[in-house]
Amino acid sequence: MIQLELENLFSPEKIGNVQIKNRIVRSATFMRSAEKYGYVDKKIFDIYKELARGGTGLIISGFTAVDPGGMASPYQACLYDDSFIPGQKKLVEAVHEFSEVKIAAQIAHTGRQGYHPKYHPVAPSPIPFKMTGLTPRELTTDEIQELVQKFINAGCRAYTCGYDLIQLHAAHGYLLSNFISPYTNKRTDNYGGNTQNRLKILIDIYNGLRDELGKNFPVTAKLQVEDFIPNGLKLEEGVEYAKALSEIGYDAIEPSGGGGDAQNLTKKAYPSLVIKSPEEENYFLPHVKKIKPYMNKCKLILMGGIKNPIFAEKVLQENIADFISMSRPLIYEPDLPIRWKKGDLSPAKCISCNGCYMTMRLGPVYCVTKKRLEKRKK
Ligand SMILES: Cc1cc2nc3c(=O)[nH]c(=O)nc-3n(C[C@H](O)[C@H](O)[C@H](O)COP(=O)(O)O)c2cc1C
Repeated sequence: MIQLELENLFSPEKIGNVQIKNRIVRSATFMRSAEKYGYVDKKIFDIYKELARGGTGLIISGFTAVDPGGMASPYQACLYDDSFIPGQKKLVEAVHEFSEVKIAAQIAHTGRQGYHPKYHPVAPSPIPFKMTGLTPRELTTDEIQELVQKFINAGCRAYTCGYDLIQLHAAHGYLLSNFISPYTNKRTDNYGGNTQNRLKILIDIYNGLRDELGKNFPVTAKLQVEDFIPNGLKLEEGVEYAKALSEIGYDAIEPSGGGGDAQNLTKKAYPSLVIKSPEEENYFLPHVKKIKPYMNKCKLILMGGIKNPIFAEKVLQENIADFISMSRPLIYEPDLPIRWKKGDLSPAKCISCNGCYMTMRLGPVYCVTKKRLEKRKK
């Protein structure tokens, strides 16, 4: 039985024409659990099935590379050619076996933050990246158009696999966010120079996908709305971007921010902020509040430090956002939605320590706090 206190959280809502059974989204999370070259294997199946069983309405996959040079890491799922389709198709089918659970592919390219033995990173402009010590090579206009096509092709493959929708990863310092940030985009062609041109790559990909797949396959974006660094993207411009994407027809936006530079400078580790008190939770709420008035039909997903179901319910009730998303809480408790639905309204057990982040180096990703507690009990 649904708790009356969480009536909105467990009510259905649409993204485009796709019905999501509740308002709980698993925010994209790279679990380092594909096989080395990006094909899905048993570990990914187990993780996604556990999430589906646990009651999440929409699972957004982890970073899925559109190009071999755009992989953030080995053991990361890919959709850069057709050989990935059969495995990904089986994964989607496995998720769809769970009643009404939907799944989105997050398609992405590392851009300036790339660190690959074979491929030198590429970006709109050659701005050095401290974390890798590399300066990316500036893309030519023709190469940008080739990358646009690679995003479109990966989106079409996601559609062929049966994914319910796609999310373009346009945040966290990866390629698409390199274009929209004035700090990393110093171009003087049609892909830089002002707010409109910096957004062009996201518009070109959207138009290409609509031409190929029509209106029935929702196209969404995890959108950088603030860089949290000096001379970086400021929220005012981020709001302009969200407004423009809503106007052209994007079906949903999940505002986010930060990335490698912010982690280096602020020590706050955006986007996955270490949270030490309840006051520090829900750290993208101010961003979402500024964006919501411009959303019209485009759905808004609130992400970042959400742990309290009563807060989530309030956000939906007050129409501040249409969905809430979580990443780290679902690493600790993949069955968190069901726990809440059954009436245990205590907040997520995740303490937002970012221990899981550290496990990305070796994988598969796990919650270190949970493991420590389990060990102590034995
Ligand atoms: C282990 C780990 C992997 C992540 N991988 C991705 C990813 O592949 N794509 C993405 O957009 N965000 C990724 N994120 C960021 C999360 O989606 C989310 O934006 C962030 O953790 C804040 O949400 P939370 O407080 O609910 O964890 C990752 C976060 C963690 C902890």
